[in-house]
Amino acid sequence: MSESDVRKTVTQALRGLAAEGIDGWPRRTAVLPVVEASPTETTPPGDASALDFVRDDLGECTRCGLHEGRNAIVFGEGNPNAPIVFIGEGPGAEEDRTGRPFVGRAGELLTKMINALGYERSDIYICNIVKCRPPGNRNPLPDEVASCLPFLERQLEAIAPHVVVTLGKPAVSTLLGRDIAITRTRGTWHEWNNIPLMPTFHPAYLLRNYTRETRQAVWDDLRAAKERADELAAIAHA
Ligand code: URA
Repeated sequence: MSESDVRKTVTQALRGLAAEGIDGWPRRTAVLPVVEASPTETTPPGDASALDFVRDDLGECTRCGLHEGRNAIVFGEGNPNAPIVFIGEGPGAEEDRTGRPFVGRAGELLTKMINALGYERSDIYICNIVKCRPPGNRNPLPDEVASCLPFLERQLEAIAPHVVVTLGKPAVSTLLGRDIAITRTRGTWHEWNNIPLMPTFHPAYLLRNYTRETRQAVWDDLRAAKERADELAAIAHA
């Protein structure tokens, strides 16, 4: 068994214990919305190489109307064994042009924050709730989110990160399956499929509200996420 396989196995076992309530993590009570589109393959839990299968299954997707206006599918990028997965809302103009997540102004800020935590972008994984650009950068519609959600779920299953960080309201609301007030909820721990989930503000919101308070809030959230990821990594490698 490779080191990565061992890590995955131990992490899964720890999550199993956590699911039994043994480490005191809060249990997820939200029910994910029913999704209409289901991928043809299932993803073995913790199998990072399955990311390629997920991308193959997505193909040149036409499952929702967003494909009509897109230039490129922005699947996500980074480390298939990432300790943290960052999830945004949907690609903007620059992401649609390049096919890469978070490479515009908001992405530059996110990258700086990731670096300030001590990571390179290649250490972690970045993706979005929807993989095609909503016209005019509007919020993705429920049917668009529902079409993409199975693929996001399979990405998370494949990576099996220690921690998920959601950026902005749509990402946390989608993963928790209910409408979330981001200002009240950011900075508090939740869970997606036994994976600790930390909601924080979207970097685009931060750019529009660049105050000491908002910067401090996001920094606190990201530090907490890294700390949790480091703790879980240490347990997995012990
Ligand atoms: N905003 C997002 O939510 N995602 C991106 O990839 C870029 C901007």
